[in-house]
Amino acid sequence: MNNVKIASIGAYLPPLVVTNDKISEFVDTNDEWIVQRTGIKERRISEGENTSEISTKAARIALERAGVDPKDLDLIIVATISPDKFIPSVACLVQSNLDADKAACFDISVACSGFVYGLEIARALMNTMNYKNALVIGAEVLSKVMDWSDRSTCILFGDGAGAAVLKQDEKQGIIKSYLRSDGKKGEALTIGATDFDTPFTKEKTVSDRIIKMNGREVLRFAVGAIDDAVKEVLKDTDISIDEIKYVVPHQANYRIIKLAAEKLNLSEDKFYLNLDRVGNTSAASVPIVLNEMYEKGLFNKGDKIILVAFGGGLTYGATLVEW
Ligand code: UT7
Repeated sequence: MNNVKIASIGAYLPPLVVTNDKISEFVDTNDEWIVQRTGIKERRISEGENTSEISTKAARIALERAGVDPKDLDLIIVATISPDKFIPSVACLVQSNLDADKAACFDISVACSGFVYGLEIARALMNTMNYKNALVIGAEVLSKVMDWSDRSTCILFGDGAGAAVLKQDEKQGIIKSYLRSDGKKGEALTIGATDFDTPFTKEKTVSDRIIKMNGREVLRFAVGAIDDAVKEVLKDTDISIDEIKYVVPHQANYRIIKLAAEKLNLSEDKFYLNLDRVGNTSAASVPIVLNEMYEKGLFNKGDKIILVAFGGGLTYGATLVEW
């Protein structure tokens, strides 16, 4: 089996900062409620840049840091639930922007767990297809699908993109992944697609193309998911939780992380958070936070970290990585 490592990471956030106070100008909420219930203080919102554009910007940074020419990319995977279009995929749009002519490209729809799934899918293809270089992107412009009149959801999400370049290497960087889903709980978090209204439909169905969520149910699921995924990804390895320098979680809500840390009997300091400044960016959240940690110089060669995510589907998973 070929070893695969994360060679570099990059991210892009749209420049517009939207504070809680700004949101309280158009829905009945306030900074204190939002900070207390979620930990979020502000988020970035796109003023028109679409998912493929912010993906491309994050990708260019990661490629430059890895010293990889886009022409040498064998694979581009974009994890997103807010693509520019159904077709072409965001990955194909990024390929075109980068002139990454020989890459195989596709999007995956795994909501907030998308980047963690994407890493393992890329690793698998790098093995079966003997790909040398891959680009895995998590990117969202969720502001497009938000109901800006629903105070229970519009306070939570933000826009942004993060990208990782994966390379075949002598060293095993991605050690193990654990991926799970619970489709029976899917209705807890939905975004509708197209209306079903053809000359043949017996009953027309209209889709809500906005995020709808049962926040309580997702919160409960998320705490159990983090606990399960962190334990399972370490199982049958010779690595103990004490050797893990950081758990890098999907940045949804401070309360979820606090409850999960208690359940795992881990110090909250092991969990790195930036959700106060970016909110929940769904599939982009793990690479965005990884990029921030990288830029702060928090990773040393050989550090072991766990990436853990959960979200719509419902889905969840974790990746054990040696930096
Ligand atoms: O990637 C995964 C994404 N999902 C998540 O991260 C969701 C996880 N869930 C949560 O973060 C929490 O469930 C929320 C932050 C969404 C909501 O917090 P909660 O403690 O579960 O509140 P709740 O929905 O039970 O609502 C409590 C009250 C309600 O008022 P009443 O019915 O008690 O009068 C809501 O209408 O808070 C009200 N409320 C708000 N008040 C002020 C809901 N949203 C707001 C708001 N500002 N933004």
